[in-house]
Amino acid sequence: MRILYVVGTRPNFVKTAPVIAAMRSRLPEGRHAIVHTGQHYDRLMSEIFLDELGVPAPDHMLEVGSGTHAQQTARTMERLEPVIENEKPDLLVVPGDVNSTLAAVLTAAKMELPVAHVESGLRSFDLSMPEEVNRIVADRFSSHLFLHSEEAIGNLRAEGIGPERMHFVGNTMIDTLVALQDRIAAAGAAAKLGLSPGSYLLVTLHRPALVDGPLLADTVAHLSHLAQDMPVVFPVHPRTRKMMEALPDWSPPTGLQLIEPLGYLDFLSLETDARAVLTDSGGIQEETTFLGVPCFTLRANTERPVTVDLGTNTLLGLDPAAIAEIPATLANQPTAQHEPPPLWDGHAAERIADILSPPDPELLSA
Ligand code: UD1
Ligand code: UDP
Repeated sequence: MRILYVVGTRPNFVKTAPVIAAMRSRLPEGRHAIVHTGQHYDRLMSEIFLDELGVPAPDHMLEVGSGTHAQQTARTMERLEPVIENEKPDLLVVPGDVNSTLAAVLTAAKMELPVAHVESGLRSFDLSMPEEVNRIVADRFSSHLFLHSEEAIGNLRAEGIGPERMHFVGNTMIDTLVALQDRIAAAGAAAKLGLSPGSYLLVTLHRPALVDGPLLADTVAHLSHLAQDMPVVFPVHPRTRKMMEALPDWSPPTGLQLIEPLGYLDFLSLETDARAVLTDSGGIQEETTFLGVPCFTLRANTERPVTVDLGTNTLLGLDPAAIAEIPATLANQPTAQHEPPPLWDGHAAERIADILSPPDPELLSA
């Protein structure tokens, strides 16, 4: 079996690194090829993750870069097709819900190449989110659907997808966190930024619904106000940086620590030691659930309800004014009692490898 892995954005690297590692321990070198679409390309959005997560250098760099949805998707498809023609893989593995995912799945489907979709079955039921369109298409055309939470089963069933394609394996993003726990603990990012562990709010925001319109200025104003009560550190996603700098009369707000995006180890160190996190990220809702760090999600909905039901996540709505409630909520909240959701245990990628490349029964009995 020959496998082509397609990645392109920051969260893709975190979700795929353990799958590549698990498959490389099963199949010889030369059976794996990695494609980096180039959807994310800044060192702090891409290369640093490959380095820190131990992902081998990609075999193919498509360099699609930024653009409209159609441009990004079309460029990826156009550049991926010849790679598939030359590599002749038996399977394409792709995670998540970004435009690189959509493009990879569509390209493979037209070439009758089976696809394994990692993190399948999540639904926000909000078709105005570009990711929701990508998720629906990816699941419709993938042959192996790897699920990380139980609600995904019902979501897929409701779309007429049969159980024979579904495999509930757990969360590969949590595999990465578990695998790197010692290096995360040693990173000491809070001290490097002059922050005391347990004292500060960590912020990340990048969804178009929040940062591409009038809500962004309001959000920054509320964060600046909150920073009078507790330190606020905000590693700014490049989309958000671009939109901030385009605001009329933009000047960096006082009190807020606006910094560059962080590499994985420093970010997870800051996340682990935060008093709370404010985010609209999908992955960070999951990581805080695992870590037991209170998370406030500045969105109207979440495709990850398990983080609200079993975890530490509170949905604030798409309402910057709700930021003002965070200190009081934290003061009145009992210490979070939480258990990681089922199979968020550091072994999801091994379960995926067991399904894609079962251990040889003769070797096991030898
Ligand atoms: C994308 C995904 C989103 C995911 C997020 C993770 C889609 C539709 N969106 O959003 O689901 O949650 O990645 O971070 O696929 N930019 C840079 N440098 C980079 C990358 C981007 O400056 O390395 C800037 C460009 O101005 C670009 C903008 O960020 O236009 C948005 O990038 P894009 O990849 O289109 O979407 P994201 O907002 O990153
Ligand atoms: N992350 C990081 N540095 C940052 C912000 C996020 O390493 O400055 C990590 C985060 O811990 C998680 C992943 O990037 O592992 C999530 O990426 P993002 O929020 O961009 O995407 P989403 O999960 O929303 O698709």
